[in-house]
Amino acid sequence: MEYNRRKFISFLGKASLSTAVLPPFLIGCGNTSTPTAKTLKMDSQILDRLKKLPLNGLSPSNKDDLLLATGLDYHIIIRWGDEISKNDRFGFNNDFTCFIPFDDDDPTDGLLWVNHEYVNPLFVSGFDFEKYENPTAHRTKEQVDKEMYNVGGSIVRIKEKDGKWKVIKNDPHNRRITAKTPMELNWDHPIKGASTVIGTHSNCSGGITPWKTFLTCEENYDSFFGETVYDQDGRPAHRDSSKGWEKFYPYPPEHYGWVVEVDPKDGSAQKHVAIGRYAHECCTLYELSDKRIVAYSGDDKNNEHLYKFISSEPGSLKEGTLYVADTVNGKWLPLDWQTQPALKDRFKDQTEVLVRTREAAKILGATPLNRPEDIEIDPITGSVFVSLTNNYDKNDFHGSILKIEETDGKYDALTFNASTFMAGGEENGFSCPDNLAFDMAGNLWFTSDMSGSKMNKEDGLYMAFKNNSLFVVPRHGKDQGKIIRLASAPNDAELTGPWFSPDGKTLFLSVQHPGEQTTDLNDPTSKWPFDKDGIPKSSVVAITGNLIEKMNKLHILERA
Ligand code: FEO
Ligand code: CA
Ligand code: CA
Repeated sequence: MEYNRRKFISFLGKASLSTAVLPPFLIGCGNTSTPTAKTLKMDSQILDRLKKLPLNGLSPSNKDDLLLATGLDYHIIIRWGDEISKNDRFGFNNDFTCFIPFDDDDPTDGLLWVNHEYVNPLFVSGFDFEKYENPTAHRTKEQVDKEMYNVGGSIVRIKEKDGKWKVIKNDPHNRRITAKTPMELNWDHPIKGASTVIGTHSNCSGGITPWKTFLTCEENYDSFFGETVYDQDGRPAHRDSSKGWEKFYPYPPEHYGWVVEVDPKDGSAQKHVAIGRYAHECCTLYELSDKRIVAYSGDDKNNEHLYKFISSEPGSLKEGTLYVADTVNGKWLPLDWQTQPALKDRFKDQTEVLVRTREAAKILGATPLNRPEDIEIDPITGSVFVSLTNNYDKNDFHGSILKIEETDGKYDALTFNASTFMAGGEENGFSCPDNLAFDMAGNLWFTSDMSGSKMNKEDGLYMAFKNNSLFVVPRHGKDQGKIIRLASAPNDAELTGPWFSPDGKTLFLSVQHPGEQTTDLNDPTSKWPFDKDGIPKSSVVAITGNLIEKMNKLHILERA
């Protein structure tokens, strides 16, 4: 793939604006009433109104607050520690959010899923890693138990009334999935002797399925139970985790690093082995007209890869083939033990290929990428967008967004064209793209994830960008193609999990890890959301207002 920082390939004009290609379950994020491909039509009157839309973006800011552009408001739906039921509280570091209404005709009442990615022990268990040279030697089981409870995910029923979303406390759907929740492996063979494994953690981004379940993706799993590493002769060794949970719960690392599906009705969960094991950022599904599923997912680590799974059976996330991208030659390479002699030489069966996906991908010549993060499908052109957040090893400090165009627009194609859609850097006003979301009008929204340890440092590369932010790239009107900052995060925070309500009136957004650089709880680096206790708290907010309605709710794409 050509990599050119100044290159900015317009995403306009590639396909006719009068049609869109996505199945409705991916448009309006949650409307799964008719999950089949449908043609969508442009409403010309609305297009005219959008052309006049004024968009006054924010300047970069290092203010410790959630700042929004004119025309937007926010309220907090839920924050770390809030009670969701008699037994459960909302977890730490909320990332991916998605909302599925109970009834497609009522977009104001449904279930919110929220990932809890990882913990900052100083806040959660009171353990200070900075105090010790060998911190994991000083951990207690009680601390680890608290931390295990605070990761995973939450299901909460929320309802909107008079423009405000509220959690329905004690609703029977409300529950926590944690690092201790047992769940099945969706696979015919046990892994490390088990078909039922304990818990999920490192839940970064995710997705939804056409059958209205949540997908939550295990990303930096090695920080909790470590990893098994192999030498050149294939001999395994355990590499310890940074958090030291394995000291009290010696669970095999091979039980983590999967895409997990959660049923909102009862919280039952399963891990999809067929999609491979690596640091999954997200999992984005496309349902083909014959109901087979294509699932895209990226491995968020320097020089790792982009994958897609194509099912051979309708509605299956088990039967099918996993492919990895060669973006130089535009080929999807099958990670199939049966047909790839090079994989047979190294691994004993397909299960081993899937458990050690990264090694298998490298044997086949997959292209190393600059930390593939979120993936979304453009509802107008059908192109697949992939955030490549950065890669310090390769002096790519600001990242880019990759565009994949599948051959003939077919998601089960085995060839594609890859190009850079846009690159981060001072000239484009953003750095380190992470989560992506398209609204109903096809505007592209994205968040940035500059590391908290590097932001706002005088001697660093990120000074000009100030705090992490939310941006939009309008598709229509006088600002089309511009990159406009619509929200600025509190200190040390990252904005994650952008997700539109089905009526387009609300943008659900996570404010994750405000005050992450805190070393003394009496003097935190952020105080957002300014609670009486002065402790910063990750929270899910609802962003509403005129601007969002004009950008999104006005159904440019009207069902034909
Ligand atoms: Fe958890 Fe790749 O961000
Ligand atoms: Ca992320
Ligand atoms: Ca990230």
